[in-house]
Amino acid sequence: MGERSGPAEPAGRVFQVTRREFMRASAAGVVAAPALLGALTACREVTASNGPASGLAPGARANGAGVLHEVRRVARPADVDLGPLGTKRIWVYDDRFPGPEIRVREGDRLRVQLRNELAEETTIHWHGVPVPNAMDGVPGVTQAAVEPGTSFTYEFTAGPAGTYLYHSHQGLQLDRGLLGTLVVEELSPPAIDREYTLVLDDLLPGEPPDPLGAIDERTGGSPGSATGSGARSMMRGMGRMGGMGNGMDVPRYEAFLVNGRPPDDPAVLQVRKGERVRLRLANPSGATTFQVAVAAHRMTVTHTDGRPVRPVEVDAVLIGMGERYDVVVEADAPGSWAVVAVPLQGGAPARAVLSYDGAREGTPPIEQVPEGLRGGRVLALDDLEALEPLLPDAAPDRRFDLVLSGGMMSPYWTIDGQAYPEADPLEIRAGERVRVRMRNASMGLHPMHLHGHFFQVGRTWKDTVMVPPHMGEVTFDFVADNPGPWFFHCHNAYHMEAGMARIVRYV
Ligand code: C2O
Ligand code: CU
Ligand code: CU
Repeated sequence: MGERSGPAEPAGRVFQVTRREFMRASAAGVVAAPALLGALTACREVTASNGPASGLAPGARANGAGVLHEVRRVARPADVDLGPLGTKRIWVYDDRFPGPEIRVREGDRLRVQLRNELAEETTIHWHGVPVPNAMDGVPGVTQAAVEPGTSFTYEFTAGPAGTYLYHSHQGLQLDRGLLGTLVVEELSPPAIDREYTLVLDDLLPGEPPDPLGAIDERTGGSPGSATGSGARSMMRGMGRMGGMGNGMDVPRYEAFLVNGRPPDDPAVLQVRKGERVRLRLANPSGATTFQVAVAAHRMTVTHTDGRPVRPVEVDAVLIGMGERYDVVVEADAPGSWAVVAVPLQGGAPARAVLSYDGAREGTPPIEQVPEGLRGGRVLALDDLEALEPLLPDAAPDRRFDLVLSGGMMSPYWTIDGQAYPEADPLEIRAGERVRVRMRNASMGLHPMHLHGHFFQVGRTWKDTVMVPPHMGEVTFDFVADNPGPWFFHCHNAYHMEAGMARIVRYV
């Protein structure tokens, strides 16, 4: 990452962008007409005949009246209108970018038929939802990849309530645009007048670069194996730089987007004075950490990765790949305000516009900098306190002590020196309390994500947590209550693709 990229300390360290940096980074451009926010998906609803099935996560309540939602998603290349960026042919669901949001209520049954109209294999993963293993969508681990021209049907009970993602789990397809949000609504509606989902993303100029770039073959062996001649290391080093195009651990992106709109043709979030507005912030990007703030408004964080937390008021939120934060904004400052998401690796910030009914201002100037990006309180991991019960104070039954590395002399990103798929599974037993400690020996930021379970980190529940660079350390505990082989990996698509992953296997 670049000089002003990674927070050197735990995720909550204040990350400030000076006004000058911000203005330099912001693309000056014509402010175009408001864009429409993505509409909700149309579900064909039929009453479930089989009642609420098993697979309800802890915290979810079976309401006995689960509705069956039948949804279809077609994965294929499509020409997507990106406003001032022109029309781009990317890989998407249902010809839309981001894919149409799927919205159900807690305890509902969700049945999604995925139709693969790509020229290669694909899957859908339900990021964050503790689905039964066979529905998790990891090719080669939980299912055979879905072949071109064929379909696969996913079915599971939606819960617990929260903000989730769905995305391809095949190779780097996520970074091509095969992504969307899954919202599982609460059974008892919260005190919210209106809500918007904000999908933060990074847009590639073309094909995703191969992180293992110039290595002639993957037969070069994993970094643990006996290779390491000077020439080979050198070549790998060059391979990385060649592959990523800039010698950093992120590809060169063309733009950063909110809900598929570029900063100079932003999505408009219409609000009325006095409303409590929920923003569901989701980061399914390939390789970008964002710092998000709203001009003239503070944000009250109410959920992280779908899990409810004691409300905490902040000026900005740092959100890593795979993370979600629900925040509430009190609409008490009429006008037209920028919602800005600054990519930590640099580049023109993504933005949307919070626009009050009757506001005269129109779209705010692109150089409008929310106060939360110039100082103020940035949400820290320590600020998060679960509203759901935490694990009892007790020693774990099993521990893993993992070192995350990579990024210097090798294109591989590793966990304990091993690059998946040439890596040992982490073996656990059903019923165990498992503790995972991760130490980051690299200069990259690693949003580590566990499938199939929520974990307790600090005093909160999450499913994805950032491990800061330069010996940053994070420990989480989870209960082995959902059998199967589960993927555990860095959610930077390029780190995952270059080895930073393991299987958690129940034995
Ligand atoms: Cu967002 Cu392995 O997943
Ligand atoms: Cu996941
Ligand atoms: Cu990583």
